[in-house]
Order: sequence, then structure tokens, then C-alpha cells
Amino acid sequence: MSSTLRVLTPKPAPNALLDYYLQVRRRTETLITPLEPEDMVVQSMPDASPSKWHIAHTSWFFETFLLSPQLKGYKIFDDTFCYLFNSYYEAVGPRHPRPHRGLLTRPAISEVIAYRKHVDRQMSVLLQTPLDDATRQLVELGLAHEEQHQELLLMDILHLFNTSPLKPAYNPQWPEPTRAGPGRFKQHIGGLLDIGHTDDAFAFDNESPRHTTYLQPFEISDRLVTNGEWLAFIADGGYQQVDLWLSEGWDCVQSQGWKAPLYWHHDEHGWSQMTLRGMQPINPDDAVTHISYHEATAFACWVNARLPTEAEWEVAAQAGMLQQVDDVAWQWTQSHYSAYPGFNPAPGAVGEYNGKFMINQMVLRGGSAFSSPGHTRLSYRNFFHADKRWMLSGLRLARDIQPHQQHTKSDNEFLRDVQQGLSAKPKALSPKYFYDAKGSALFEAICKTPEYYPTRAETRLLSEIADEISATIASGSALIEFGSGASEKTCLVLDATPQLGAYVPIDICPDALEHATQRLNKRYPELPVIAQTGDFTEPVELPEQVAAMAKVGFFPGSTIGNFTRSQAIEFLKSAKRLLGANGQFIVGVDMVKDRHILEAAYDDAGGVTAAFNKNLLTRINRELGANFCLENFAHVALWNPEHQRMEMHLQSLIDQCVEIAGQRYIFSKNERLHTECSHKFTLESFSAMAAEAGWIVSQHWISAEPEVGLMRLTQQP
Ligand code: SAH
Ligand code: AVI
Repeated sequence: MSSTLRVLTPKPAPNALLDYYLQVRRRTETLITPLEPEDMVVQSMPDASPSKWHIAHTSWFFETFLLSPQLKGYKIFDDTFCYLFNSYYEAVGPRHPRPHRGLLTRPAISEVIAYRKHVDRQMSVLLQTPLDDATRQLVELGLAHEEQHQELLLMDILHLFNTSPLKPAYNPQWPEPTRAGPGRFKQHIGGLLDIGHTDDAFAFDNESPRHTTYLQPFEISDRLVTNGEWLAFIADGGYQQVDLWLSEGWDCVQSQGWKAPLYWHHDEHGWSQMTLRGMQPINPDDAVTHISYHEATAFACWVNARLPTEAEWEVAAQAGMLQQVDDVAWQWTQSHYSAYPGFNPAPGAVGEYNGKFMINQMVLRGGSAFSSPGHTRLSYRNFFHADKRWMLSGLRLARDIQPHQQHTKSDNEFLRDVQQGLSAKPKALSPKYFYDAKGSALFEAICKTPEYYPTRAETRLLSEIADEISATIASGSALIEFGSGASEKTCLVLDATPQLGAYVPIDICPDALEHATQRLNKRYPELPVIAQTGDFTEPVELPEQVAAMAKVGFFPGSTIGNFTRSQAIEFLKSAKRLLGANGQFIVGVDMVKDRHILEAAYDDAGGVTAAFNKNLLTRINRELGANFCLENFAHVALWNPEHQRMEMHLQSLIDQCVEIAGQRYIFSKNERLHTECSHKFTLESFSAMAAEAGWIVSQHWISAEPEVGLMRLTQQP
């Protein structure tokens, strides 16, 4: 067997596991019902096994790894079977050579069926006793293993029947393949992304650990390559053009005489294909199948594309960008099958399950029409040698995105952040995207709600202490404000500090800056106001005019609370560099207080904060062509005591699928998109954070309740 995994609900009740066991075992028996005894003995090539061997080997797995070690008094069914039906477990002992499995006319099929029944009876006893976690996981592995053999059984039967001049149908009613629409390439912006097994449901060891990997921007076809496209490849002499092929692939073309996919046959009526339904005409709209890695790469080269890496495949599938993910054919990737960083095979013989095959094989992703129902997952890693063709394999194309094909930087950033944030678990977006023109206006409206105390409290405090602040500011200094918005509070400082040489408001929202600048120019005609539109989470460049001036930073409103702790420290460090050696920084912070006051402030009765939060979805709809339905999301504001922060989320009211820039994102009912953190501080917690960035809180002012603070930071000597 060459692959890994299936999903079980985590820790099912003992009887649920028994039910599942019986269901999987029955399915194997159903799969052999169309077969005659003679069909079940023959081995058509060394890679394939007779059906009789599959049904015996899967029973041997349960006998060897569960019944013998775990069931008290268990008696081995037949001492010779371990030699006959061990597949590749060195730790278990010697075994019958794989290429000779078809020579085993004995034990007879009836005896192998009796072996199965015996194992099932004993497993039923074992599964009705209390099981520890390790045993339960072994049962799950045994069932996943059996499902893999179900797929192998179908692959091997098809191979066998294709060798017959009669071309028998395994099952004339076997379903026709699922077809896709016209298909298109979908762009993914890449970046640092996580792949690998996510939850605690069963997965094979080779899918873990989940880890971060870097992807260049890429595009990937949303469907598989079709027979019609393959016919064009053949007609263009694809199998004769050496420059399309890898060296080993070209050797295969020559030595094995490849002219078409494995089960294609050509006669005077044209091409037809051997399937489980018997011989069928080639349907140009069906996905091409039974191709080797070498054929897949030659085809990709012919169309100036490439195969996706397994990480690209998984990220795109997770983002809902792909059709024909797991129900048509396994998809070759350009990734070599190797260990994920930190991979740890299980101890003992079952550690041989996957790890030792991590050499000279290529990864296939998805699943196929031969895969057992529910067997695969998006993190599933199948693997085969590059020249194999008897599995149900197909291909999906990918391409690098050339720089001139990319969106503009700012489009790109918003799209990339939305793609990454909605692909993450839990889903999250930066609060900086709240502030389009409408969002900034909504923030101003929040400040006027009775519940949102911080603006009123800070304004009052500032009016009381503006003279004290002014006394620390040297004549001719530049005041640099971060996230200035409407610059309302700034006026209190400007009124008290006529000695200022310039004011530099920095904000991500150009509309807010423009209104503020107009107002300030009228009110302070002597003061140079040099507005800077930009993102203060990225390196900020100050205007030339203030280069020689002493600098005072101003960051009111507790906007610093919207950063994570590490972002805040990074920001404070870069502000220190920007403000220069003698620079000082006045920072407003909201203090920790009763959660009811906080939760009301972030969920006002008039629904203004809810509208502010949901406006993010309106913005994504407008700027990225998404189709969020606002009424399907609820505004949620809650206090997180562990992190001392208010959190805003948008909670999905139903199971739904949202399309953004051509990609689909699934929201389960009650799933949340985390849109904002507002950290609250104590004098101690803020001072400690500032100290990590090299600042000292030299002076502080805390308002009456509801408490907000203003901190004057100076640089550590
Ligand atoms: N300082 C004002 C406004 C606070 S609202 C007050 O105290 O009332 C937060 C402001 O920060 C908004 O104007 C918003 O547009 C701006 N902002 C948020 N994230 C930003 C970022 N990453 N870069 C620049 N400005 C940002
Ligand atoms: C800008 N920032 C400090 C505000 C806050 O309180 O975190 C934004 C806001 N979010 C909800 N209401 C106001």
C-alpha cells in the first residue's frame, strides 16, 4: 500500500468503533462480490496483488497488531499466515516475496474468508472491552489501512481485467466520473502558510506536524486536465518530443512504448479506455487518468505550466479554490515524498507504515473515485514512484505568477491579507482594514455613543494636563501623530503648545486625513500641517521639512491596544528610531476595568459598533468583489480575561460559503472571524511593555473612572 489516512470522529464510543469496524470490513466483502474465484487468485504484475491476498492481509493486520498482543487467550488462526500475508513489516518477520503472491493457490478463498470471519468475531470481542487511546488509534489505523486496500483491490482488478482479451467489466453499473466545468486558473498570493494535519481526528503520521511553509505567488487550475486536452497532446506528438520529458520519463517512453495513458486502446474506431465498467469510448470532458508522473510533467511542459507543489495544492484546496478535489483522480504534485519538519514515526512495527517509503517517490494529493467514502482529507499524502500508472492518477496544472501579472501593491496586500486571514484557523483580519472612509466616519460616531467612554475620558484628561505636556516640548518641535483620524484631541495639544514647528498627522485613511488637514489649516494658519497617508505598521518616512526638528510622538485613543503585544513592542521600537535620541512619546492607553463597562462600550445599544465591525465585510465586497451577506453575520464583543483585551468578532449565523476574488471560503455556523483586539492595561503592564522597547514611563496621568491613561515615554539612557 502506498498512502495514508482516514477521518474518524475523535474518540468514538466503544460501540461506535465496533460499528465502524464492521462497516469497513463489510465494504471489503461487498467489493469482492462481483468477482469469480479465479479473478481473486491471479497477480497481473509485481506491483499488484490478488484480491485473495488483500482480504487475507487486511485480516492479518488486525490479528498481528491488535488481537495477538491485546486479546487475552487469542489463538493465531493459522501459523503459516504470518509468512504468507505480512506485506512489508521487517519487525514482524520474513514474508513471501511480493511478486509471487499470485502463485498462492492455497489457502483457498474459502479458507481466507473463514480467516476474515474469525478475525471479525475476535475483534468484536476486543472492541467491546474498554480500550486505551493507543489501542483505539491502532484500530483506526487498521481501518484506514483496510480502506487503502479497498482502493488497491479496485486498482489491481482493473489492471488484471485490462490484461484479458475479453476486457470484462468489474461492475457495469460503476458510476461515471464527475466532470468539471470549463475551468480556469486561480491566483494565490502565496506567503507564509500552514499545511499539515490540523485537528485530533485520525490522520496518518506522514501528515504531521502541521508547519509553516513559504509559497511564492502562484496560480492553479480549478479542475483536472481532460481527455480532450490529452488527445491534443498525443496528436501534437507529445509522446515523441524528447524535450518535454524528464530523462527517466523519456527512458520509460522508449522502453515501455508509452503512446497514451495506461488503459487507452486504439483501433479503427479511435481511442477507447478500459474502466471498471469495461471498455468505454474516451469522453473528452472526463479527467485524464492512469498517467505517470512523467507523463504529467511532459504534458505540463507542453502547455507551459507545471505541477503544483503539495503545499500549493493543500493551501488552494483549503481556500476552496479547487473542483474535483478528491472524487475523480489522485493528482500528481511536483513534491518529493519526504518527512515534514519534526516528523516522528510511531514506535514499533507500525512505524514502518509510512516513514520508510520516504525515498524516490512523488506525492499525489486529493483522492479518487476508487477511494473509500470519507477516507481522504485535504492533508492526505499519497505517494507512488514516478513511472507508476495503475492507480487512478490525473493531473492539475499550476503556474508561477510573473510580476507583471500581479495586482498593484495595495490591492495585493489587502487581497493577500484577506486570503491568508480567511484561510487561517481561527479566521482573523487586521483591524487596520476597518478604516475606509465609511469606517472612519463610523469610528467618529462610536466616539459619540453613550457607552464608548474612552474618547470622552481621554479628551477630558488631556484638557486637564495639556499645559503639563506642553511644558516638556521644546520650541520648534514637530508633533508626529500616529492614527490621527479626525485630529480632534490634537487641538487640545496644539492650543496649549504654540511653540510647535510642525504637525505631522499619519493615518491609513486618506479621507480622514484630508478633512482633518482642511480643518487644522483654517484653525492654525501659522502651523505647517504635513499629512502623511500610510500604514504605521510598516516603516514610516517623515517629511524632509521635519528632519532637523526635535520630535514629539503622539499616539492617543489607545490605538496601541489594537496591536498584539509583540506588534506593540515592534511599533514602539520603530517609533523610538523615528523620533530620534531625544524624542519623547505621549501614548494614550485604556485601563483594565469592569468587563460590563467594557462589553457595553464595544456593543453599544444603538448598533454603531456593530455597523463599524460589519463595514469590514462591505469593504471586502466592494474592493475585492466578494459576496458577503451582512445579515448572515452577527457582531460579537467579548472580554478575554486571559489576554486582558476586548475582542470583536463577526460570527457566522449559518453554514455558508463566501466567494472572494474567485476563491471560496467556508464559514460553519457559529464560526467567528476575529476582527479586532483592544488590549487594556495597568500602569505596570504598560510600563513593562514599553521597557521591552527601550522606553521609560517618565510621567503618567490616569483619569477618574472610567479610567484611561496618558503616558509620557522618554528613552532609556
Ligand atoms: N487618534 C484618534 C483616532 C483613533 S481611531 C482618537 O484617538 O480618537 C484609530 C485611527 O488609526 C484611525 O483614524 C485609523 O484610520 C488609524 N489607523 C488604524 N490602523 C492604522 C495603521 N496601520 N496605519 C495608520 N493608521 C491606522
Ligand atoms: C481605535 N481603537 C483604539 C478603537 C478601540 O477601542 O479599540 C476602535 C474601536 N473598536 C470598537 N470600538 C472602537
